[in-house]
Amino acid sequence: MVSRLSLLRFTILKKYAQIALPNTYELTPHGRDTMNIFQTLSAQDFFANYWQKQPVVFRQAIKNFQSPLEPDELAGLACEEDIESRLVLETGGEKPWQALSGPFEESRLSKLAESGWSLSVQGADRILLEVSALLKYFRFLPAWLLDDIMVSYAPDGGSVGAHIDNYDVFIIQGQGKRRWLLGGAPQYDEEYHEDLDIRLLKEFAPKHEWELEHGDILYIPTRFAHHGIALGECLNYSVGFRAPTDGELIRSLANWAIENDLPERFFSYSASGAQGSASEITADSLSQIKNHMKAYIDSEHFTQWFGQHISEPKTFFAPPEQEEQLKEAQLESLMSEGAILIPSEGLKRCWSAAPSPTLYIEGERICLPEGSSAALVQQISDCDLLSHKEVSSFSPEVNLWPTLCELCNKGYLTLSRD
Ligand code: SIN
Ligand code: CO
Repeated sequence: MVSRLSLLRFTILKKYAQIALPNTYELTPHGRDTMNIFQTLSAQDFFANYWQKQPVVFRQAIKNFQSPLEPDELAGLACEEDIESRLVLETGGEKPWQALSGPFEESRLSKLAESGWSLSVQGADRILLEVSALLKYFRFLPAWLLDDIMVSYAPDGGSVGAHIDNYDVFIIQGQGKRRWLLGGAPQYDEEYHEDLDIRLLKEFAPKHEWELEHGDILYIPTRFAHHGIALGECLNYSVGFRAPTDGELIRSLANWAIENDLPERFFSYSASGAQGSASEITADSLSQIKNHMKAYIDSEHFTQWFGQHISEPKTFFAPPEQEEQLKEAQLESLMSEGAILIPSEGLKRCWSAAPSPTLYIEGERICLPEGSSAALVQQISDCDLLSHKEVSSFSPEVNLWPTLCELCNKGYLTLSRD
C-alpha cells in the first residue's frame, strides 16, 4: 500500500488567500465559547485528582468530532515556509529515530514508507481558525497557560518513541486510533539513549495502557513518560499547556526590568543595634531583603511583566501583508458599511483587571483609552469578531478607533469586508 499522503496543497490558509470564515465555527462578538468535555468526571474532580497528578482518558469527550485537518492538508502545511514542522523517521532514515525539520519538499514526503515515521505541525492554532476553535473544549484552564496545538499524523505503527514532555497535554484523537502506554508517576531522574536526534527514554515501564478512539481525549500531566503508537492511520491534536519553571520566570522578569529601565529602589537596612558577628547574614537581614523583593512582586510592574511575558507567542507572528496603513476615519467608515474586524488565528490575548484594566497581545501591553472599563478590555481579549455595533456601544465615553486602527496596522486584527 502506498502512503496516503498525496500532498494536496492546503488552500484556505489566510496568509495565501482572502479571509474565509469557516462555516463550522460560529464567530461571535463575545467569543471564547465553552464546550464541556467532562461527563462522569466534573471539572472539580479533574483538578482535585488528575491535573498535574495523574493521566486520565475522557471517552467520547467530543461526540462526532470533525477533524479540522485531513492528513493531506497536514502534509501541505509541512511544506510551507514559516510553519514549524517535524518528521521523525524511526526507520528508513540515515539513522534510527532521525528527526528532520520542515519545510519539506513535496517529493520528500511523497517518498515516505508505509510505516515507521510520524509527521507533525506545531502551532496549528496560529495557522487555522478552525484549529484554534478547538480551544473551546479547554476553557476550564486559563487561556494564558496555553502553549500551542500540535497536529500529528502517523501511519500504522508510527510513533515518536517513549519520551517525557515538560508540559501538560490533552491529546484529542482526531482520526483513527492510537495505543498509549504511560508511566504511573512523574519522572525527574530519567536517562536517555545517546546519539539520537530525539530524547528517547532508555527505560520505560508503563503502568497504564489505553486505546484511544476518534473523539476521545487523553490527558498526560507534565513529566509523565508516554509512548503513543498508531493503530492504523492516525491523526492527533495535542493541546499543550505550559508549566513554566522558576528559572524561566525569574529570567524573564529580570530581563523585563532591565529592558524597561525602571527607577531603582534602594534597599534600606534597619536595625535597633549592632549585630553580634558583623559577617553573619542574620535571619532578620534575610527577612528584610525578602520584604524588599516582595514589594517589587506586589507592585504593578509585576502584573505588567507577567501580562507581557505570558502573552508572548511561542511561534513568530507574521502579520498579514497590507497594502497601506489604515487611517482611523477610513476604518470607521468601512465598518459603518458592514466590514468587521477579526483577530488573527490563535492571537495571544489576555487581560487583567488590576491595577487598571489592561490588555496584552503577543507580548505587548496595549494602552487603551482613558476610562476603558474591564468589560471593554475583556471583550477585545475574548471576541471572535468586532462589528461597528460593538465598537459604537463603547463610544462616546471611550473612543476606541485609534486603538483598533493600531491593532489593524500591526496585523493583530484583520478587516473583513465580506
Ligand atoms: C504524537 O502525536 O506524535 C505524539 C505526541 C506526544 O507524544 O507528545
Ligand atoms: Co509527548
